[in-house]
Amino acid sequence: MRRYVIAGNWKMNKTPAAAKALIEEMKPLVAGKDNCDVVLCVPAIDIPAAIEATAGSNIKIGAENVHFKASGAYTGEISAEMLTEAGVEYVVIGHSERRQYFAETDQTVNLRTLAALNAGLKAIVCVGETLEQRELGYTETLLKFQTKMALTNVTAEQMKNVIIAYEPVWAIGTGVTATADQADEGNGYVRAAVAEMFGAEIAEATVVQYGGSMNEKNAAELLSKPNVDGGLIGGASLVAAKFAAIVDAAQ
Ligand code: PGA
Repeated sequence: MRRYVIAGNWKMNKTPAAAKALIEEMKPLVAGKDNCDVVLCVPAIDIPAAIEATAGSNIKIGAENVHFKASGAYTGEISAEMLTEAGVEYVVIGHSERRQYFAETDQTVNLRTLAALNAGLKAIVCVGETLEQRELGYTETLLKFQTKMALTNVTAEQMKNVIIAYEPVWAIGTGVTATADQADEGNGYVRAAVAEMFGAEIAEATVVQYGGSMNEKNAAELLSKPNVDGGLIGGASLVAAKFAAIVDAAQ
């Protein structure tokens, strides 16, 4: 019932020219790999080049953030309408780097999620515990709280366009991957929170990704777990062969 979604998160990497070159390299490697949705979330300045380069391919383009207001005096921000008009279909919301470095809160994550969904974007909402929170035994509480806060006022109908990425903060960019069982457990907490809000049927239909040092070597094992419906991939999405190998693992 659920379909794998393999999404790259380029973060602040690749100029428009480099984005085009990387996509040209990836396209043939992921072509025809139709057992999953393939998404690249790219820096805002790269979006036009990425949309052009992926035209006619099976790669969809996402943004890395969206503002919650439709327009106005928000210097440096980008609205959902700007993204949809540019051809963007997905957007990452509430990544731990946004929460850590840019004062993103559960409230703003919720508002951004609503803005994205109301504009027809698919929202990839990120949740995850720090190492300290895990060691204190708060992983389940924290994941459920972040998930519920992010989805406040989202309608059951809109849940079709919600993807949640469980990304333990201690596993992001560190080379330390959660074990497949830890990933499955974390994703399970997220799914349970969705069930508490929307019921079992919607929870079963919701795509929950794992993210945090997912790579071409560990992807198959992570994706074999029942609650792991895909990946949000940082570092390994910057190398065509590695990202393609993860897409292969989802076939
Ligand atoms: P990583 O990043 O794969 O480099 O750990 C994942 C993410 O931040 O989404």
